[in-house]
Amino acid sequence: MKPPTSFTSVHDVDQLDAWLDQAVAYQQNPLQDQHLGRGKTVGLLFFNPSLRTRLSTLRAAYNLGLQPIVMDMNQHGWQLEFADGTIMNQGKAEHIREGAAVISQYCDLIGIRTFPSLTDRETDYAEQVLQQFLTHTTVPVFSMESATLHPLQSFTDLLTIREYQRKAQPKIVLTWAPHPKALPQAVANSFLQWMNAAGHSVTITHPPGYELKTEFTEGHPITHQQREALAGADFVYTKNWSTYAPYGQIPQPTTDWMVTTDKMSLTNNGYFMHCLPVRRNVVVTDAVLDSPQSLVIEQANNRTYAAQVVLRQLLKGTNGFKSASSGKRRT
Ligand code: CP
Repeated sequence: MKPPTSFTSVHDVDQLDAWLDQAVAYQQNPLQDQHLGRGKTVGLLFFNPSLRTRLSTLRAAYNLGLQPIVMDMNQHGWQLEFADGTIMNQGKAEHIREGAAVISQYCDLIGIRTFPSLTDRETDYAEQVLQQFLTHTTVPVFSMESATLHPLQSFTDLLTIREYQRKAQPKIVLTWAPHPKALPQAVANSFLQWMNAAGHSVTITHPPGYELKTEFTEGHPITHQQREALAGADFVYTKNWSTYAPYGQIPQPTTDWMVTTDKMSLTNNGYFMHCLPVRRNVVVTDAVLDSPQSLVIEQANNRTYAAQVVLRQLLKGTNGFKSASSGKRRT
């Protein structure tokens, strides 16, 4: 496996099967590389809340002997300016150029967690925050969810599907489900990207108006008939997202899209999957979530091993970078 210099999508994975095999190896023996990160530091920078990503990445770092530094940027950092040439006489106290360069001196790897604005599609899909960190840091950067993709989650989802699949080409359904707030398209986009890379077709179902960007859905069947999509499904991946066009809206569908036991009975004794957090009895009923067919806790467990593979691969590439203790390294 060739070490990547960053991890922001499945395109940074050179051998997907080898990455999956390594994740399985970590499931079986999480401490097999416990000295790999000795003397090195990983910075985890959060621009929005997280439970799973934060704790699983911390656990992955500890399993590799890395020392983590965690910062909630919006609460404890200065507000960052991302635009060049700005006269900084308003609220933003620190420019990304200095901020990223300084953090690079303290950390050997940097993880970034951002959310989209859901108001400016161009800026969100340009991944402004992540791209600016990639440009101005001098150490490897990995995404802990960006404006439009959630690769650590999708790697986990693929690992979980591989663990539970009962046939080589299972029927995988991605179904939209209701939510009271406008949510990003990142999990759905990323899920499709990783399933593509693994050679899986995904049947997509959502209410009219909730079409995802075609870049992610090309080649996959799409239907507005949720029950039709669920028929014979082996995996039901459930997620809410707001509209892509017009951007960030949440028009109410004419029918109820919550996943229920009745709908799951249409599947091939299929597994229910969701990235969490999930709103009970809005997205999915208690009965489905608490059933033996629900894999949500298993998915969350696999977050550690997926993150551990990503940190491992980036660490193996750090020889090409200056280490955090090697002093000045401005570009
Ligand atoms: N699935 C996921 O990313 O969970 P958190 O938002 O809690 O990190």
